Amino acid sequence: MIVVSCSHGRHLGKKIAKRLGSRHSTLFVEKFPDDELRIKFYDNIGKEEVILVQSFYGSISDCIIEVIFAAGTAREFGARKVILVAPYFPYLRQDKRFHKGEAVSQGIIAGLIDKYFDSVFIINPHLHRKNSLKEIFKIKSVKLSANSLIADFVRKNVKNPVAIGPDSESYKWARNVAEILGIESRIMRKKRYSSYNVEVRLNKKIDLRNKNAVIVDDIVSTGHTILEAAKILKRLGAKSVYCICVHGIFADGAMNKLRKAGIKIVSTSTIPSKAAKIDVSGVIADSLK
Ligand code: R5P
Repeated sequence: MIVVSCSHGRHLGKKIAKRLGSRHSTLFVEKFPDDELRIKFYDNIGKEEVILVQSFYGSISDCIIEVIFAAGTAREFGARKVILVAPYFPYLRQDKRFHKGEAVSQGIIAGLIDKYFDSVFIINPHLHRKNSLKEIFKIKSVKLSANSLIADFVRKNVKNPVAIGPDSESYKWARNVAEILGIESRIMRKKRYSSYNVEVRLNKKIDLRNKNAVIVDDIVSTGHTILEAAKILKRLGAKSVYCICVHGIFADGAMNKLRKAGIKIVSTSTIPSKAAKIDVSGVIADSLK
């Protein structure tokens, strides 16, 4: 078995290999002057299991092409199995045709991964209208969860916490974290008008005086969901507002916006950033074992 860190998996690949006691290598990736990608395996790939680690953030399209090239090449070298570890897997939010003529990107990307891989491992995949990864991928797909790691972090770092989910589907992480910790929780409702325009409201009031509100979400992208939720929680008297997310994309200066609003931000390490304080390499290695 060999674990290969792709360009956006380097922050986790080596740690995963160490936990598995397996060989580790880094994928060589560069761009030709015309922007085409060139990839190369440094190590010999034999008739073995090849685990590619890639998180899909930043230049997502390049990240996708890179793993397709790597998986196809590993097969040519005789790899017995090619496995994709995608701590953050993209396009899952595009699960229906929201506007006439639009692509349902989720299914198309999944079809591509089906063609090149034997199995895929994803942490807290954004499943909204689909109940499981099995409805999306034809290959073996494994859903991992960072919820207990988030609960551990809250237990060790936040006094008097109340878990808040910022939208209806967030019960899967926010309520679950609350259940693990045995603390109170509330799930808010959200209406999204555009990428940067969201409305968040609380159905049932909660007294937050002397409490620290911990918003738990799977993804923070523009940060507007969290900014809107935090406004309400402060109004309700929260002593402080934390945002703990699984996938910290922090697009377009979101981290600064959140910090300026006085929100304490923490994420898992599915995507590397200054906020990535919760290491997910153990969850991944345990499931690969
Ligand atoms: C969507 O429903 C997700 O769970 C997140 O709440 C959403 O992606 C956050 O996006 P943004 O940070 O852009 O508001």
